[in-house]
Amino acid sequence: MKSRVPALALAAVGNALIAWAAPAQKSLVTSSLQAATAATPDYIIIGGGLAGLTVANRLSEDPSINVLVIEAGGDNRTSVMINTVSTYSEAFGTSLDWDWQTTQQVGGSTKNIKGGKTLGGSSSINGAAWTRGATEQYDALEQLGNEGSLQPYFVKSEHFYSPNEAQKALGAGMANNVHGTSGPISASYTPANSGNQRRMYTDAYGDKFLQAASNALGLRHITDICNGDIHGTGATTPNSITPSSQVQQLRSSAATGYISPIEYSRSNIKVLVGWRGVKALFQDAQNPTRVTGAVLQQSKNGAQQNVTAKKAVIVAAGAIRSPQFLELSGIGDSNIIEPLGIKTVVDLKGVGRNLQDQTMNTIGAAIKSDFQGSGPSSTIAYPTIWQLFSNASAVKTHLEKNYDTYAAQIVAAGGAVSADAVKAQWKIQTDLLWNKNTSASELFADHGFPSGQFGQDTWPLLVYSRGSVHISENNAFHHASVDPGYYRLPIDMDVNVATLRTARRLYQTSPLQETLNSEQVPGFGKVPNSGQYGSYADWQKWILKGYVPVSHQLGTCQMAPQSLGGVVDSSGRVYGVDAGSLRVVDASILPMQFSAHLSSSLYAIAEKFADSIKNSS
Ligand SMILES: Cc1cc2nc3c(=O)[nH]c(=O)nc-3n(C[C@H](O)[C@H](O)[C@H](O)COP(=O)(O)OP(=O)(O)OC[C@H]3O[C@@H](n4cnc5c(N)ncnc54)[C@H](O)[C@@H]3O)c2cc1C
Ligand SMILES: *[C@@H]1O[C@H](CO)[C@@H](O)[C@H](O)[C@H]1NC(C)=O
Ligand SMILES: *[C@@H]1O[C@H](CO)[C@@H](O)[C@H](O)[C@H]1NC(C)=O
Ligand SMILES: *[C@@H]1O[C@H](CO)[C@@H](O)[C@H](O)[C@H]1NC(C)=O
Ligand SMILES: *[C@@H]1O[C@H](CO)[C@@H](O)[C@H](O)[C@H]1NC(C)=O
Repeated sequence: MKSRVPALALAAVGNALIAWAAPAQKSLVTSSLQAATAATPDYIIIGGGLAGLTVANRLSEDPSINVLVIEAGGDNRTSVMINTVSTYSEAFGTSLDWDWQTTQQVGGSTKNIKGGKTLGGSSSINGAAWTRGATEQYDALEQLGNEGSLQPYFVKSEHFYSPNEAQKALGAGMANNVHGTSGPISASYTPANSGNQRRMYTDAYGDKFLQAASNALGLRHITDICNGDIHGTGATTPNSITPSSQVQQLRSSAATGYISPIEYSRSNIKVLVGWRGVKALFQDAQNPTRVTGAVLQQSKNGAQQNVTAKKAVIVAAGAIRSPQFLELSGIGDSNIIEPLGIKTVVDLKGVGRNLQDQTMNTIGAAIKSDFQGSGPSSTIAYPTIWQLFSNASAVKTHLEKNYDTYAAQIVAAGGAVSADAVKAQWKIQTDLLWNKNTSASELFADHGFPSGQFGQDTWPLLVYSRGSVHISENNAFHHASVDPGYYRLPIDMDVNVATLRTARRLYQTSPLQETLNSEQVPGFGKVPNSGQYGSYADWQKWILKGYVPVSHQLGTCQMAPQSLGGVVDSSGRVYGVDAGSLRVVDASILPMQFSAHLSSSLYAIAEKFADSIKNSS
């Protein structure tokens, strides 16, 4: 999707870091089933991605507990496509990316959703933007049943590096009492130095972009995007990268943060790569909903292997694949799984529904002179719904008047168990957007993309459409049916058009206007600059033709009351399964999006769930 600067020299640095911890003992990462299952695990974790590795590390802090992680992908920590963020996007479409093709979407096309198929999961291929949502969004999670604050877990997961004077001068800050400084995941601002050293993810226009947003919209500048108060703000944002004197682009992922440091020192944890979790195993007739282990398989035609778990199986395969694991296990809507020859163990209608992702469109304007830096900038503007629409009240009235019609549409499309279920979410969402002014869209300044331009990657943050993912065959190697329902409801297109009009407006506002040449993408030829920065019909046509998934998929095993389509309780225990012997912890449990990139929140949630599992056993 994007071309980045190759950073050949950096691969060597990555290798050196990994070799530096060199082994007295064998690596806990293995592709040998025999080595991985030498001891009977207490916990089997399905998926060695962001959440799975976080939980695995914490559970194995107790040396008497044995943990086995199953990861479908390989261990690619030393690959330059993984370990350097400056080459972000080179992993897309390779064997390191699941690259799930969707069903046909509104507008007629299919899209490809990305997800890391490698140790560390999507944290190994993501864009490394490190942001948090608004405080009231985490409070809303508590309203939906997630007891207890996430704040201590944000602190626990994070090693935040305070900006230096030069970075501070560019607008970077570190808010008091919100950050951790000794956790496994490094977060830091990119360097502010210039001269002949490239300033990755910083640029000459970021400050002008934020000033234009302030002039056009009244957007406030904040120095720390993780401070919980992001309403109508813009900021220079940190990245999940490890700072170092020469190299600023080394990725900090679940693999490097939660596995590398313990790789040669803990003997009670194994990570088996190149194998898939197929389904859960259950006890006999006496206790048919007690999970006793998992079935593993290495290839489509390979033999299936049973592995026992003394305490629990924890599903962390991500929002697209965790519901598949449950359905293959017999946990899901019986009307969907029984026709595929799967016996229902728990008829749980919410499994696989409530899929939510966002959609991105990038606009660009040509630069007047060459600039320092490469890659996208780390400057984000987060307008509120009031800043996007001059008639925001009318938009709200119209939306609420249509709740019943829209809910019926979502239920008919399989995106929710009931109209009440999806309306309960929308009420929270509308309250956040219109009453609490929680940021409605992201405008992510992108320096050098589109090629040679100053771009804005834009997306509405809290979508109203809902979709689904379900298996279509009784087989863990068969592609599931993935329908994110992009633009299923007109409100999502309305917010998207308003977002792009706003982005275009920023190009026409001082001081960005003087700094840039004219808009090239889409340009006034494709979307004439009529009336309000382009007509609705022209923008809609352009959006549907070119949008790409943001790949922030979530919601498919949501943490909510079962009556509202919930699949897990506030500790991640799957409803209807005995004694917490099957849990889910990953992006699938989030009921709704945050006004943020997801990873920092997911690390915190995984930390919290790990604590809750430890305390319950
Ligand atoms: C392209 C892209 C860009 C992103 N950019 C950002 C960003 O800039 N900032 C940010 O904060 N967030 C970003 N995100 C989001 C964030 O990285 C993800 O939301 C997060 O990693 C999801 O965590 P997870 O634990 O749910 O799943 P993942 O981290 O995806 O982990 C799931 C793991 O399970 C494995 N797996 C799947 N099925 C099986 C099976 N049956 N058996 C065994 N293993 C299995 C997968 O291979 C994978 O390793 C991005 C995501 C993507 C895809
Ligand atoms: C990822 O690692 C696996 C081994 O764990 C290897 O087989 C595969 O080739 C690697 N992929 C890439 C793209 O480096
Ligand atoms: C795995 O367990 C299932 C259910 O108990 C059983 O039917 C199957 O034969 C076992 N497979 C192997 C290879 O042991
Ligand atoms: C709000 O304004 C937009 C842009 O002018 C217009 O297209 C839309 O119909 C209006 N919405 C309502 C509900 O009035
Ligand atoms: C939200 O923004 C609107 C428009 O700027 C303003 O009238 C309102 O007071 C704000 N509400 C809150 C809670 O900040």
